[in-house]
Amino acid sequence: MLCRRLFLLLKTVVILLALGQAAAGQLRSLADRAGILLGTAVRSERLSEPPYSSTLTREFNMLEPEDAMKWFVLRPNSQTFDFGPADRIVAFAQANGMKIRGHTLLWARQNPQWLLDGNFREKELLEILKAHITGVVGHYRGKVFAWDVVNEAFDESGNLRDSIWYNQPGIGLAEQRTAYIEKAFRLAHTADPDALLFYNDAEGETMNPKSDAIYAMVKDFRSRGVPIHGIGLQMHVASDPRPNIASIRDNIVRLGSLGVQVHITELDVALPVDAAGLPLHNTDLTVQAAIYRELLRACLEQPHCTAFQTWGFTDRYSWLQSSSHGSRGAGLLFNRQYRPKANCAAIRDELRRGR
Ligand code: G3I
Repeated sequence: MLCRRLFLLLKTVVILLALGQAAAGQLRSLADRAGILLGTAVRSERLSEPPYSSTLTREFNMLEPEDAMKWFVLRPNSQTFDFGPADRIVAFAQANGMKIRGHTLLWARQNPQWLLDGNFREKELLEILKAHITGVVGHYRGKVFAWDVVNEAFDESGNLRDSIWYNQPGIGLAEQRTAYIEKAFRLAHTADPDALLFYNDAEGETMNPKSDAIYAMVKDFRSRGVPIHGIGLQMHVASDPRPNIASIRDNIVRLGSLGVQVHITELDVALPVDAAGLPLHNTDLTVQAAIYRELLRACLEQPHCTAFQTWGFTDRYSWLQSSSHGSRGAGLLFNRQYRPKANCAAIRDELRRGR
């Protein structure tokens, strides 16, 4: 009995591996053919690792710096910019014919200490924000085709989160709700009129109070000519509970009715993992592949859903491990040895089916 179980388990693993292997090396060309950007977040310090960089160039047609364009990296002090790590990613992407998404120009988190401790007044903060957006977007003008201008400004109830940029003390627009977000979009548009400008958030993927608030903001911005071109749906989801695909689809559709694009920006599908970061249950890998498949289908079905991006690509390097204290992880397309998981076959099949 035990032998038979072991045999079946082994067989399942071999089949899953074989399915994945067959899909390796095809995703990028299939994405090109399907007319969708297939992207991943990347870490500049890993580009020198051959399996890391070769998997990137083989499988993806778009990259986004995972951390290298955040304030805490770009702004060691108030006077200077450190473009080093981000420039390395941009150069790598350009050398390999990949598009580059920028992330992120305004966020309540990951700001440098000099900014948080500076006791700046509203007018000063506005000047600091202006200098930052102008400097960063200007530096990457013509290279970064789309920016996450503002990240995670709403809470779960659809209220604006407190932040140094909004109301603590803010840039002088705290009484006017989304006006500080609008200001950031206008500054970015002036710095690069050709860049696509996105608002990016987590847990606003389904129809819920947060996505309602985002929808209302986009509707307002579009009606007044504020330069906003897209919404980033982060999509950090899990195998249990499974994401509500129908509700995600409804949300993508309603955003499209406002004339904006949708990018899936930070997808991963977290699984319960053991201390070594390996899935606790092999059957979860099948569920994970099904979720990847259904989400890609929901995107491909809508012409305005133009990018499908994962938050990293190998389970070897993922924010999930550190953030979940090791209990959830293994959320990406490739395993720790860069071998394609069943997720890759699911993506391949959907890309083949096309839009
Ligand atoms: O680079 C330093 C290193 O020098 C230092 O020794 C080490 C000690 O902690 O920290 C390193 O920086 C860490 C960085 O990741 C490395 O890339 C930061 O502490 C850590 O906070 C940072 O975490 C990132 C997190 O955002 C905060 O910026 C994760 O990598 C990144 O995946 C995560 O991404 C966010 C998106 O930007 C927005 N949406 C949610 C998503 C997941 O949290």
